[in-house]
Amino acid sequence: MKELRIGIIGTGMISHRHMTVWSNIPDTKVVAAAEIDEAKLRQWGEQYHIPSDCLYTDFREMLKRDDLDCIDVCVHNNLHTPVSVAVMKAGFPCYSEKPMASTYADAKILYDAQKTYGQKLAVQISSIYNLQTRYAKKLVAEGKLGDIYHARSVGHRREGRPGMDMPFFSRDFINKEIGGHGPLGDLGIYHLAQMLYIMGMPKLQSVYGCSTDRYFQDPRLLPGGLKYEVEDLSVGLARFEGGISMDIYEDWAMHVDDVGSSFIAGSMGGLKLIDVDTTGGELAQSKDGSIIGGGMVQNPTLEFFGYEDGQMVSKVIDCQANGRREALVDPKVRLYNDNQVHWAAYVRGDLTDENRIDSPYIALQTALLSEGIIISGNLGRSVTADEIEAMSEPMGVRRQQTPWGVIEYDF
Ligand SMILES: NC(=O)c1ccc[n+]([C@@H]2O[C@H](COP(=O)([O-])OP(=O)(O)OC[C@H]3O[C@@H](n4cnc5c(N)ncnc54)[C@H](O)[C@@H]3O)[C@@H](O)[C@H]2O)c1
Repeated sequence: MKELRIGIIGTGMISHRHMTVWSNIPDTKVVAAAEIDEAKLRQWGEQYHIPSDCLYTDFREMLKRDDLDCIDVCVHNNLHTPVSVAVMKAGFPCYSEKPMASTYADAKILYDAQKTYGQKLAVQISSIYNLQTRYAKKLVAEGKLGDIYHARSVGHRREGRPGMDMPFFSRDFINKEIGGHGPLGDLGIYHLAQMLYIMGMPKLQSVYGCSTDRYFQDPRLLPGGLKYEVEDLSVGLARFEGGISMDIYEDWAMHVDDVGSSFIAGSMGGLKLIDVDTTGGELAQSKDGSIIGGGMVQNPTLEFFGYEDGQMVSKVIDCQANGRREALVDPKVRLYNDNQVHWAAYVRGDLTDENRIDSPYIALQTALLSEGIIISGNLGRSVTADEIEAMSEPMGVRRQQTPWGVIEYDF
């Protein structure tokens, strides 16, 4: 098989996790990288043995190469649309980190760029490329849940403020200009996207939301000089076509031990999603078993509640064990268990638009819902999907000051 040659943009924290995964996928190789911070770039190049003439402080120079098959975008949130559009415009397939963008307007620009430039695009959403989600979708398709009418999307950290309780995380997470939004745009997108995808992408009708930064702004918890410019909690209640509702809860820090798990409820059965995968699974494990930024490898499982042979049952589905057995019988299923494996197969043509997971569409609908919660919170009333589309404004960076000059983005 021909080697897939990859260029990376942004050599911060998440790029290291991407590198672990690439090193675990045969016939893929990162051969070039771009990063605005030259010292960081050189160190990164040494770590991964990338020659210095393949390292660029200006990613636009890297995009002039003609020996790259695709680009992996690892910059921060409000740079996803500007950089990823530039990548596709330059003629490369583009794999971008999540969230697709901080606003629906930016996400739509990126979504439309696929068609404008005739390029492939995928968005990293580890929660949808895994066994838990695949088995949940299978149970839904088999009718085990009956008529789905409600879902709950939940994410919580007791004290997980990026840049503070988690000092190894970039401060860009809490900077509005670059990070955009708080927990909803961070871990929230994994939960929302998973719920929407399992339920078959129901069409959003309206949403009511509230957000706050009250925890972040308490001066007794805020060391001098540190500024949080984004929310620390967002809650919402959404209504979808087909009479489906979803309540949403996402925080980065809250004085409560547990807020429960995400679930989906139907007339004949329900599914509880335990330990949703937000880190990327087995291929993302470093040699010591840890995952960069995500602790140890997660083991997402499913609990099914419903009827079997007329009996009421409650059972745990061990996704990992089933997945290993299933992959022995049909190795092709492995293509659906990891973001980067899926992306590499799509770029090579082993997966097509018909049988790939359409992460750009899932991410776009996720952006519509998450921004609806934010807009509704600002207005103090519920908003329809049409209103969200009309009111959403781009937050993507148009002019970036770097250590060596300015990058102007055209998107
Ligand atoms: N850190 C995590 O655990 C994690 C997990 C999942 C997803 N993500 C997502 O990954 C993205 C990056 O997060 P991170 O934690 O790696 O941030 P980071 O700040 O550590 O890394 C981003 C890097 O991009 C560089 N950069 C900025 N503009 C650039 C440009 N124009 N050209 C080249 N490089 C540029 C920055 O200098 C920085 O080194 C975010 O969107 C985040 O949501 C992060």
